[in-house]
Amino acid sequence: MPAYAHRMDGITGSAIRELFKLLSKGDIISFGGGNPSSSSFPVEQVKEITDYLLNEKAEQMLQYGATEGYAPLRSAISEHMLKPKGVDADESCILPTTGSMQGMDLICRIFLDRGDKVLVEAPTFLGVLQTLKIAGAELISVPSDDEGVITEDLEKLIKEHRPKLFYCIPTFQNPSGKTLGLERRKAIARLAAEYDMIVAEDDPYCDLRYRGEPLPPIKKFDTSGNVILLNSFSKIISPGIRVGSAYATADIIRKMTIAKQGVDTHTANLTQAIAAEFLMRGLLPGQLERICPEYGRRLDAMLDAMDRYFPEECAYTRPEGGLFVWGECRGLDMLSLVPRATEEKKIAYIPGVHFYAQPEGHEGTFRLNFSGTAFENIDKGMKLMGELMKEELAR
Ligand SMILES: Cc1ncc(COP(=O)(O)O)c(C=O)c1O
Repeated sequence: MPAYAHRMDGITGSAIRELFKLLSKGDIISFGGGNPSSSSFPVEQVKEITDYLLNEKAEQMLQYGATEGYAPLRSAISEHMLKPKGVDADESCILPTTGSMQGMDLICRIFLDRGDKVLVEAPTFLGVLQTLKIAGAELISVPSDDEGVITEDLEKLIKEHRPKLFYCIPTFQNPSGKTLGLERRKAIARLAAEYDMIVAEDDPYCDLRYRGEPLPPIKKFDTSGNVILLNSFSKIISPGIRVGSAYATADIIRKMTIAKQGVDTHTANLTQAIAAEFLMRGLLPGQLERICPEYGRRLDAMLDAMDRYFPEECAYTRPEGGLFVWGECRGLDMLSLVPRATEEKKIAYIPGVHFYAQPEGHEGTFRLNFSGTAFENIDKGMKLMGELMKEELAR
């Protein structure tokens, strides 16, 4: 067999996907995945919309479509998702994508050559770490504090490395749950202009807010056109429909569209149209009113249980939304604890090292998800995890 391409050198499968395989084996309480709760899916509404689309527009739905995307979806995203956040977007500058992950892949395809430098938050979403590694990017980590990425450090690293791209998740970050403050959002838009650097703003969790005031995306403060905003329907309607979007200048969207032609021709018409109808029928606010209180209740249950059961060596975030709590337990290696967690305690979490471009020194970190587990298992699972950490610390 011929050799695999160099772009696959050192690329391993996603740790989360591996954990999923393990979970299918037994009776494990999992805080590992990032899945929305299956009870969040608007099944009846999607059924009704699908029937309508197949009754009224079957030919269009089942035929090839334009790479640029389903036109009503582009205008619905502009009207119902961007305008309420203070972003006035011409629909020709919006590209529907096959999940927001594809948006990131297209950004890599059009901007990155092998060896180009890319700044990432530390920690950051491991799916995109994989996308960036396959693109051959040289990854440089930017430190964070409680308010997300530290913009002074970001500027220093930009001056030192002159990166082409900064990838960030400003709201209820995956994995940390942290939210970037308003001034930092403005600062990042300024840095994108001043240093002619692309900012890929990945914002799939912005609508999952359970308390506190919403913040505008970095894109609102973009004066240079260097900020690309990625949104997704995965966490607010369904990840299985695989619909997301990119909003950028006409020029960037054109290049991304050309790249997408060579990847998947277009995102599925039917699921784009489901997302479009969902927005145009005004169903999103009701959907968020239904799911956010339930997620907020789960988050509170998790934090309460962590307060009660976790050892004092353990610190963790208290997010206002999203799907994750991030923790660090001094003195423990959370990666090597995974077998005991799953086999003895029958619980699963994701060791934090997977979320770092440079994992050294972050062995004590871990990510917990509260949307994918039954509410009644949260307290029980956190108790078991607290016991595990305390037992290990006492060894
Ligand atoms: C930060 C971030 N970006 C993108 C994605 C994937 O989004 P999509 O399903 O739209 O590809 C996730 C999902 O976990 C995520 O956490």
